[in-house]
Amino acid sequence: MTERREVAAAALTQNGRLLIAQRTYPPELAGLWELPGGKVDEGETPETALSRELEEELGILCSVGSRLGSEVLLDHRYVLRAYRVVLLDGCPAAHEHSAIRWIELDELDAIDWVAHDREWLPDLAELLREE
Ligand code: CDP
Repeated sequence: MTERREVAAAALTQNGRLLIAQRTYPPELAGLWELPGGKVDEGETPETALSRELEEELGILCSVGSRLGSEVLLDHRYVLRAYRVVLLDGCPAAHEHSAIRWIELDELDAIDWVAHDREWLPDLAELLREE
């Protein structure tokens, strides 16, 4: 079996809040909220891929740090991994999502998350508590 391709997602926090983004596609995920990110292309590291995705999707410059939480197997082709991310420059805007939001710790559970991202809720809660 060939190795699974990675989808990298950003746990971007600032001032005790987490940035989340609302998906527009595919239809079954449209309207649900996620940690923004995308597929790691051939020749990219997860860090360079996530920086690129965040620049494309949100227009921001970021520094990608350590892994957060467990990896999530999407299907036989993809594995989803989250990374702690710090904003270096810019103000996030929804270029490819229908909306973005900064949320606080007490809002985490009530968000209509993409199912896979729910796996990270305890880790995200801990991250926001540390902020
Ligand atoms: O934009 P790109 O095609 O590179 O990737 P994507 O569509 O953002 O992510 C690929 C797949 O990963 C999505 O269809 C979702 O199933 C999944 N995903 C997820 O479950 N949670 C995330 N935070 C990001 C992606």
